[in-house]
Amino acid sequence: MLVSLKEVIDMAEQGNFAIPAFNVYNLETVMGVIDAAEEMRAPVILQVYPRLLNEEVGYYLAPAVVAAARKATVPVCFHLDHGPSELEVTKALRWGATGIMYDGSVHPFEENVATTKHIVETCGAIGASVEGELGHIGSVNDDTMEEYTDPKEAAEFVKRTGVTCLAVLIGNAHGHYKKTPKLDIDRVKAIREATGGLPLVLHGGSGIPEDQVKAAVKAGIRKMNIGTDVCCAFADGTKETLDDPNRSLAVDLFMKHPIKTVKKLAIEKIKLVDADGKA
Ligand code: 13P
Repeated sequence: MLVSLKEVIDMAEQGNFAIPAFNVYNLETVMGVIDAAEEMRAPVILQVYPRLLNEEVGYYLAPAVVAAARKATVPVCFHLDHGPSELEVTKALRWGATGIMYDGSVHPFEENVATTKHIVETCGAIGASVEGELGHIGSVNDDTMEEYTDPKEAAEFVKRTGVTCLAVLIGNAHGHYKKTPKLDIDRVKAIREATGGLPLVLHGGSGIPEDQVKAAVKAGIRKMNIGTDVCCAFADGTKETLDDPNRSLAVDLFMKHPIKTVKKLAIEKIKLVDADGKA
């Protein structure tokens, strides 16, 4: 069933677990994640980067995500990931997104607050809930990390914008980490306390050691994003199929194994954030 971001986040808050938010790129990654969610009885988020919601790709991908979510017997949110402007947000809503991330973290604080607040209000009018970002979460290729999210600033940001959940910078980054990350779990606790228990979001979920993910969830992370690992699982499945002398080139048959490798990865992540059996 297609549900809003708030509905799945509320489930996670009540059950003290995190919703796994998988970045999806094509029909096969959608199928792998949904298969896993059904088998594990887990609520999940299918999220899409703005570049995939243009006329060229979004025209095909967005209806597939919506159809998959509607058909599923577990709660599924269709979420825009890292929307950089109101334009991208509007496009995502047009394609049927039920969750919106507006990422104003590259802008000065006041500008981030003003735009996020405006987007929360417009999305609220049609029942879509919003994730904000404070403390810019960069890439593993960046030379340095920006300053981690400040609990006091987070409290003000949340009060003034009304976001449903907040992405925070606590030692995480997008991509496969070059050296083992060390999440600032005390900061997660401090931000939770300062914001009156707002659900927090962990970006860059590919490659964080399991014990740190579990500690972060215990401290108040309620959504964990997984992108790079989905790509790797799909690529591995494709390569294994190519290497199999008995494989079929009929595309639907060729894709069966990559769907399975994505499903396997999704099951691992669902279990890691304790979302299995929660739907
Ligand atoms: P990874 O690609 O590092 O898993 O991060 C995904 C993400 O946070 C998307 O917003």
